[in-house]
Amino acid sequence: MNAFRHIGGCAALVAMLAAGCAAPHGQPALDSEVLAPKQVMAFDVLYSENCAGCHGTDGRGGAAIALANPVYLSIADDAVIRKVIANGVKGTAMPPFAESAGGMLTDAQIDVITKEIRTRWSKQGAVDAATAPSYAPKSAGDARRGEVAYGAYCESCHGPGGSGGKKGSAITNDSFLALVSDQGLRTIVITGRPELGAPDWRGDVPGKPMSEQEVTDVVAWLASQRVQDPGKPYAASNNTQH
Ligand code: HEC
Ligand code: HEC
Repeated sequence: MNAFRHIGGCAALVAMLAAGCAAPHGQPALDSEVLAPKQVMAFDVLYSENCAGCHGTDGRGGAAIALANPVYLSIADDAVIRKVIANGVKGTAMPPFAESAGGMLTDAQIDVITKEIRTRWSKQGAVDAATAPSYAPKSAGDARRGEVAYGAYCESCHGPGGSGGKKGSAITNDSFLALVSDQGLRTIVITGRPELGAPDWRGDVPGKPMSEQEVTDVVAWLASQRVQDPGKPYAASNNTQH
């Protein structure tokens, strides 16, 4: 917005914003913007200014997962999505957006974003909810069983021990694991990253979907590969020494 004001200068804007140029140079004019940031309710603006940088234009994915993924939207309900937007995910790049959590968006704006993500990007029947793994784990994971599941479902692409292969990147390296939450891993294992060619839980081994427990166990195994970093406390569940 500042750039706009400077490029356009008062002369160019004066016709559009009749009273907008009264302030002296360098001081914001009270009504120099059409809407104050907190009044913006258009999803396109809210999304592109706050989310697209990481989740991609039109939700198509970037450094962070695609939100325009009907499989993701079948697994994660609005309460889950809203909570993540409001509070962020500690220890990852996902920032909190709610004013109550130090962010810049009002509750009403977060409601618009949450609702529109589903309206625009979900698809009825994208998955059979009865057979899909649940968003949150239902039981404790077992890293040893997870290692076996890794060998069966993941190694063909991500290589031995998660060190990377021809068809998938390294996923057990410190730099990756340090910045992703356990839920973030679970989400990717269930929903894949279709925008990057990563299969969802049904497609790792065609015709043999992962079970709920296998998903939970493989995440436990990945989490167990995290290296302890004294400067960065992890959740208690990751606190085992290896
Ligand atoms: C600076 C980068 C960044 C920005 C900006 C950002 N996100 Fe995220 N987001 C992430 C990362 C990284 C994760 C994965 C965190 C983890 O490991 O759990 C994430 C996770 C999420 C999730 C949860 C995915 C899951 O596993 O259920 C949702 C929903 C989400 N973001 C929505 C948004 C929305 C909506 C916006 C804009 C209001 C936004 N994000 C802005 C980086 C970002
Ligand atoms: C058919 C090949 C294939 C299989 C099988 C597969 N993946 Fe992937 N996976 C990919 C591709 C392609 C990507 C996206 C690009 C990349 O990171 O390599 C990806 C991305 C990921 C990511 C995100 C990496 C990042 O940097 O954001 C994780 C985590 C992951 N996969 C875990 C798994 C796990 C766990 C399994 C087994 C349950 C698995 N994958 C099975 C191909 C595969």
